[in-house]
Amino acid sequence: MTTPTLSARQAHVQATLQALWNPGAYRDPQPGYEAVRALDPSGVVAAPEWGSAFVTSHAANSALLRSPAARSGAIISQVPADTASLRLLQPMMLFHNGVSHQRLRGLVQSAFTPRVVAEQRELVRALVSDLLAGLPHNQEVDLVATFAAPLPARVIMHMLGLEGDDEAKFIRWTQSVADLLAGDGHTPELMARLEADAREMSTYFRDLADELRAHPRPGLLSALAAAEDGGERLSSAELLSNAALLLAAGHETTSNLIPGGLLELATQPGAWTALTARPDHPNVPDELLRVVSPVQLDGRTLAAPLTVPGAGGREVPLAAGTHVQTMLAAANRDPEVFPDPARIDWDRPNSARHLAFAAGAHYCLGASLARLEIAEVYAALATRFPQLRVTDPRPPFKPNHVLRGPLELRVRLNG
Ligand code: HEM
Repeated sequence: MTTPTLSARQAHVQATLQALWNPGAYRDPQPGYEAVRALDPSGVVAAPEWGSAFVTSHAANSALLRSPAARSGAIISQVPADTASLRLLQPMMLFHNGVSHQRLRGLVQSAFTPRVVAEQRELVRALVSDLLAGLPHNQEVDLVATFAAPLPARVIMHMLGLEGDDEAKFIRWTQSVADLLAGDGHTPELMARLEADAREMSTYFRDLADELRAHPRPGLLSALAAAEDGGERLSSAELLSNAALLLAAGHETTSNLIPGGLLELATQPGAWTALTARPDHPNVPDELLRVVSPVQLDGRTLAAPLTVPGAGGREVPLAAGTHVQTMLAAANRDPEVFPDPARIDWDRPNSARHLAFAAGAHYCLGASLARLEIAEVYAALATRFPQLRVTDPRPPFKPNHVLRGPLELRVRLNG
């Protein structure tokens, strides 16, 4: 009489996995991740009926993301053929593997060097200062619309060499790219909006690339445009798509981390007080990235069988063709690696082991820029507004399970 027990177990597994996609999980996903973690102590929950596996442990996620057998890009197959959206997505490095990924990433990286990033510190500091100076003190303000959304957009626009007048348009576009990459439910209305934005974005970047080749001006985009033409250089389509990727990846993640970190800190006043005492603590960006995980989930498809580490030194075999949900936000709160994982501890010795930037070949290209922005933002907030108060600790969230963030965050900027 084992069958009924097995099917009851399977029904429980299915219900637990399905609950990850409930709208309630937009705001509060961790109980769902913990329920999945509890399903299997190995850190890997197989769902063979869906051809997939859900991975919660740090060790298994880390091994998977680093394996050449784990391929990116399955999401592309869900985008309708012969659309502007697909033409925009296809050449993005994010969806390439092996040699073609190395080529695209290498070409973009040759312009996005550590020196170029380090040179942005003064710019970021000035942009943070300008934006905060324009906000009303001692009264309620939505920090997403006034600060967290425009700041990363301005930083990446400056780096790319784009005009300030187009800021609102860029923010709208990056939202569309984020919805396309990770949003829930591709309704006809959403697809129509995405198509219109993808077309507009393509025209904008194509015209701009032509102009920049004729009249180069400072900025990453000019460096990328100059690196075009034949051989190992970026084609027009690749330039356009990867510039759009930088814009979206550079914006949506950081703009979600800023309010996400404040929401976590609102529940841990001791950590906020410690931050005001030492606003330039070097561990601030990594500890915030760990607890917030702006990219909650990532995905890979196995091109070959793979074994990953499980509990107690055992290995967990995964079949070729399995679609793996790498649950970055669960890995970042794996109690085996991060004791008392929900607690923000600026002195945690291993915060930087988080997987918020993924790992392996697709490790975030903008990680050092993101760390720089987070450090500057939190140092400025804690120094200028030590009495900062989140007035609505349960704000509405974006309908996106992957790129998680609040739609707004009402705070009082008290000095
Ligand atoms: C809090 C901020 C950020 C977080 C949490 C984050 C997270 C991530 C993650 C998880 C990936 C891997 C995606 C995958 O494997 O499918 C990724 C890739 C990437 N990120 Fe970031 N990111 C952030 C900021 C940025 C910034 C500021 C930029 C650039 C301006 C950027 C550019 C990229 C690019 C180009 C890739 C693709 C790399 C590749 O495919 O080789 N990111 N990021």
